[in-house]
Amino acid sequence: MMRKLLTVALSGTFAFSANLAANEDTTQAYIDQLTSMGFPAPKESQLVHIPPTMADLEEADIHPELKKVIRKGYDLFTNTQQLRGENVFNNMNCSSCHLGEGRMPFSAPIWPAAVTLPGYRGKNGHVNNLEERIAGCFTYSMNGKPLEYGSDNMLALSAYHQWLATGVEMYPKQPIYGRGFPAPERPAELSYANGEKLYEENCAVCHQEDGSGLRVDGHTVFPAPWGDMSNNWGAGIVRLFTAAGFIKNNMPLGQPNSLSDQEAWDIAFYMDSQERPQDPRYTGDVKETLEQFGPTFHKHSMYGQVREHDGKVLADHDNTGEKPFLKPDTIRSRNFD
Ligand code: HEC
Ligand code: HEC
Repeated sequence: MMRKLLTVALSGTFAFSANLAANEDTTQAYIDQLTSMGFPAPKESQLVHIPPTMADLEEADIHPELKKVIRKGYDLFTNTQQLRGENVFNNMNCSSCHLGEGRMPFSAPIWPAAVTLPGYRGKNGHVNNLEERIAGCFTYSMNGKPLEYGSDNMLALSAYHQWLATGVEMYPKQPIYGRGFPAPERPAELSYANGEKLYEENCAVCHQEDGSGLRVDGHTVFPAPWGDMSNNWGAGIVRLFTAAGFIKNNMPLGQPNSLSDQEAWDIAFYMDSQERPQDPRYTGDVKETLEQFGPTFHKHSMYGQVREHDGKVLADHDNTGEKPFLKPDTIRSRNFD
């Protein structure tokens, strides 16, 4: 069984295919595969959707021009480094965090956004559509500059998201099985020292002791969990519960659910207590920024906190990494009054 798990996750595709219109048997086989990897089975009330694969796309009865655009979106999602220096200023691909090409349950599969938006988003306090949601991951997770709304690349990337949602009704009433990075329960105490030790034992072999990952010939082999080549301080994964959920469900690569809840949280605490590029919402002062975003977002992160073992104030700098600006002008408020 272990061997099977490794092939599934190491191939990074989780290529379970439901091309012949999902029926009860394929859905059950899909769920069996996930439970054998340690994930919970869906509750009766939950919506289970098996997103189509790229092989399904070739078989699909849709216009060849549309297939071309979806293929382009897939290519941008899995090799976002092709936009390096324009829209991306770190070592991430979208698929660095959204495993299985954006299809993997419990790894924030991307298709739910296509059926739940337009919708209100607390992070920016207004109604977002799919393009703006994608722009959010460019701004924070890619430490970048979003694709222009309505551009060819934005159309392609949105098309890939929407196509993965094929067959799901808009605004489904049921909660979605495997959405986001569900977090294990937070333990009473978190240990930086234990997180450091566990990181060195379980993660550094790929991500390096200094968190810089590995890049070869302009291609990211292992992304950077912290440092200049990582996501910035405004990204969702800097929230401890999101990082713990990501780690528990997805890492070490190929061994999902192998760490205990305490271990996943301790590693998240260690990882999120390291430096990274400044939050694009930075006002020029870390305390002031924390006052503004502490109550909503940064109460879950280490932003502006004093690191216990060396007294360092985290995020007290104006380093934006390789990105030559702080805030892309796409971040703006909307008002329909
Ligand atoms: C550093 C990790 C990281 C990278 C890289 C990343 N994302 Fe995300 N993404 C997240 C997190 C965290 C969430 C929020 C998940 C949650 O709600 O728990 C998210 C959520 C999303 C959602 C919403 C999913 C839903 O359930 O509604 C979409 C769509 C999305 N990302 C698209 C992208 C695209 C497109 C890219 C590349 C341009 C990208 N992401 C890159 C971490 C990342
Ligand atoms: C066998 C190599 C390997 C090991 C071991 C491993 N990872 Fe990863 N990790 C990856 C790869 C590869 C990706 C990107 C996924 C992809 O591109 O398919 C990734 C993605 C990530 C990400 C999201 C992107 C980023 O860099 O922030 C985080 C966070 C992460 N790993 C943390 C960890 C932690 C914590 C551990 C140890 C518990 C760990 N990894 C162990 C290979 C590994």
